[in-house]
Amino acid sequence: MNILSGKGLFISLEGIDGSGKTSLKERLQLYLEKNCGLEVLGVREPGGNIISEKIRKLLLDAGNQGMTSRTEALLYAAARSQVVEEVIRPALMADKVVLADRYMDSTIAYQGYGRGLELNFLQQLNQLCTGGLKPDLTLLLDMDSQEALQRRKKDIPDRLEKEGLIFQEKVRDGYLQLAREEGERIKILDAGQEPERVLGEALCYLDKLLLKRL
Ligand code: TYD
Repeated sequence: MNILSGKGLFISLEGIDGSGKTSLKERLQLYLEKNCGLEVLGVREPGGNIISEKIRKLLLDAGNQGMTSRTEALLYAAARSQVVEEVIRPALMADKVVLADRYMDSTIAYQGYGRGLELNFLQQLNQLCTGGLKPDLTLLLDMDSQEALQRRKKDIPDRLEKEGLIFQEKVRDGYLQLAREEGERIKILDAGQEPERVLGEALCYLDKLLLKRL
């Protein structure tokens, strides 16, 4: 057993496309492993295991233009259900830190505020597919949607990224609304800054959480 004493630590990273979650995740993983001596498991959503990665292909395939918003929400939920049972819960039981690149808040922000599906339906869906497992801390990388779009100009856009700026703005507003509602869990980072500064802000929240748990 390590310093986390028995229930692991679950941290999720959220934000619009291009907000820098993946690079922050790598830096946080290094910090937790090297500075804190913790065992860290990184997962991405949708994905993180063979079945969910197959669902990811369906979801992000820019050719699947006919996919309805409800189908989309159900597929994200199916991928989440699999990764929770197969990967996240066992890692937490083994007292690891789980660092998730996206989790349940993505569904509320993208399918709820972005696509306009009923929030109540999505909250129930999240409850079903996670069995009520919530992160201990969620870091929301917030930045201007136009700037985020510029950052990923050179990438080939996937199905969601093809939705464009107005969609990303709705998603951003959705995230900010979630942070207002769940301020204890969801902490906003200014992702428009240099990566080192974003890391610094993230570490402030992380250290506070670790202090509570040690
Ligand atoms: P990905 O390439 O992982 O994007 P990013 O690197 O920005 O995280 O693609 C995941 C896409 O899926 C992203 O556009 C957000 C979207 N998504 C949802 O719409 N709902 C969800 O529940 C999740 C987990 C992701």
